[in-house]
Order: sequence, then structure tokens, then C-alpha cells
Amino acid sequence: MGNITFTMVKPTAMRKGFATKILAKITDAGFKIQALKMMQLSKVQAEKFYEVHKERPFYGELTDFMSSGPIIAAILEKENAVEEYRKLIGATNPENAEEGTIRKMYATNIQENAVHGSDSDENAETEATFFFPKNERFTDDGKLV
Ligand code: CMP
Repeated sequence: MGNITFTMVKPTAMRKGFATKILAKITDAGFKIQALKMMQLSKVQAEKFYEVHKERPFYGELTDFMSSGPIIAAILEKENAVEEYRKLIGATNPENAEEGTIRKMYATNIQENAVHGSDSDENAETEATFFFPKNERFTDDGKLV
């Protein structure tokens, strides 16, 4: 059971002005922010990040979308972070997400589903490392990770 997960606020949620509401919901749920930045992914970076989905029919559209505007990337810390965060964000398809979850509240559709969340401890570490060097990651008491 790991203590970090990785998230992105996706471009549509950013365009709609939901980023600060989403971040407040995350910290209200007890997650600590280990690292955070706003940036725009290139198409090549989006393709690399979502490489596991490259055979899926939505891969081209997904990587176009994820590189279409700024995102916020963050590493979140909490006990059992991956599972706890997946509960907070709800199902991939917002139509199936429970009331009160981030995707139910802020997603547009299955692709533009407001936020990304890691699906395993191993992927959380890979994704965190893809975005942040160790010297941009801080513990809750302000020390480098
Ligand atoms: P995310 O949690 O970022 O991980 C993979 C992403 O692929 C997912 O959220 C959605 O944005 C996207 N996705 C998954 N399934 C579909 C689908 N059936 N159609 C379009 N996009 C999808």
C-alpha cells in the first residue's frame, strides 16, 4: 500500500475554471500536495504518458485532447493514496460516477473527465517521476522527499 498518487486536472476542466474547486476538494479530503505545476503537454509527451493505451481506438483523440491546453499536474500524498483518490474522483465515465465525486461534479464526458488518477502504486511512481524531479517534491513538513 503506497502513500502517493499522481493526478492531472485535464484541459476542459481548466478551461471551465474548475481547477481551484478541484484542488480544494482534494485537500479537504486529506491529501497533502507533494508537488504541483501548471503546464501544457506536447503531443509527444501526451503520447508517452498514455502509452499503455496506444492500441485503444481513442488514443489519438485522447492525446490530442490532453495536449490541447494547460493542465495542472500534482503528486498527492495520503495513506493508501491510489485507492483513496480513485474513490474521491469516481468512475472513468462520469455517467457512472457516484454523486459528490470529482468526475460527477466536474467532468464533461468519458474522455474529458476532469482529472486523471493513477491506477496502481507502480504507475503512481512512474507518472510522478515523468513530471517531477526529486528536488521538486516536498513532504508535509517542508523537507525534500
Ligand atoms: P484517465 O484516468 O486519464 O486514463 C485514461 C484515459 O483515457 C481516461 O482517463 C479517459 O480520459 C480516456 N478514456 C478511457 N476510456 C475512454 C473511452 N471509451 N473513450 C474515450 N476516452 C476514454
